[in-house]
Amino acid sequence: MTDHATHLAAARARLSAATSLEDLQSIEREFLGKDGVVARALAAIPTLPPAERKEAGQAANRIKQEVAAALDARRAELAGAALDAERRADGFDPTVQPPRVERGGLHPIVQVTRELEDLFVSMGYQVLDGPEVELDLYNFEKLNIPPDHPARDAQDTFYIDPATVAPGAGRMVLRTHTSPVQVRAMERLAPPFRAIVPGKVFRQEEVDASHEHTFHQMEGLVIDKGISVGHLVHAMRTLLRGIFHRELDVRLRPGYFPFVEPGFELDARCPFCTQGCSVCKGTTWVELLPCGLVHPNVLRHGGLDPEVWGGFAFGLGLSRLVMLRFGIDDVRHLLQGDLRFLEQF
Ligand code: FA5
Repeated sequence: MTDHATHLAAARARLSAATSLEDLQSIEREFLGKDGVVARALAAIPTLPPAERKEAGQAANRIKQEVAAALDARRAELAGAALDAERRADGFDPTVQPPRVERGGLHPIVQVTRELEDLFVSMGYQVLDGPEVELDLYNFEKLNIPPDHPARDAQDTFYIDPATVAPGAGRMVLRTHTSPVQVRAMERLAPPFRAIVPGKVFRQEEVDASHEHTFHQMEGLVIDKGISVGHLVHAMRTLLRGIFHRELDVRLRPGYFPFVEPGFELDARCPFCTQGCSVCKGTTWVELLPCGLVHPNVLRHGGLDPEVWGGFAFGLGLSRLVMLRFGIDDVRHLLQGDLRFLEQF
């Protein structure tokens, strides 16, 4: 065995027998210290015949590197063992598998809302919010739906005693649609502006597979000069392209909403068939978007002069759209919080 191999074998044997950090310090001193094996080998080089000096220098350096690396490795091992022992003493067992952490995901309504927000923000719209407990004034009256108007029957809701929420505020309701934010936006923002309002709405409903008492809508409102039905149709086509990632034919049918004039129901060609299916009830058209040009009275209630300003508005049934997008057959799944449903998205 060469000197180099002998020293290394000795160092390894000492290291594996070491049981404490103090043992390691003494091995380090012995091999790498001021008067250690390596220092002595280096100091002896000048006394060697010149032909042996190079090899002796290299051997001493190899011992130095290899012992230093072995020391580091053993030090890490001993430190780990010491930590484990300490934890075991605390009742901590590092070999026990931790419980699996469930990772959450975004609700399908949130996924579609975020996609639509990105799309509309890219077209210069701002994203607005409004109160879910709303004044009757904004939910109905300022939208051209006075008390006793028959349109109220189609949107029966939950009436709140204002004394419990905001004494003196006037009659309050759980908002039946996102449309009250139309007038709130006109009051706040300087025209021209474009806005969308995603949010939760509430109705007193006979609940079934396509009707919930709590569901989501997304209002859209554009206020500008010279707005026509052409602008409205263009915006709706862009919206549908953003949702279904392809061009869908659309058609407008007359629709009645007291806060738009003219008002429409916009239908799109069924994204799932060409012949008729259960989604489009055999018609190849799906009813998607009520919309229209903002009624002059509503502009007035928002403080805008209808001789100067005009606009269009739409009220997307977000919950129904999410159902179409993901092939969900019952609206009641959406807000039940059942993990077996939610984990699929
Ligand atoms: C409205 O709520 C109007 N505010 C829409 C509007 C806005 C018209 C702006 C014109 C201008 P409607 O009641 O039709 O309209 O509801 C709009 C959409 O909400 C419907 O097309 C439907 O997709 C959805 N919707 C209505 N009721 C329910 C319900 N009970 N459950 C789930 N989705 C519903």
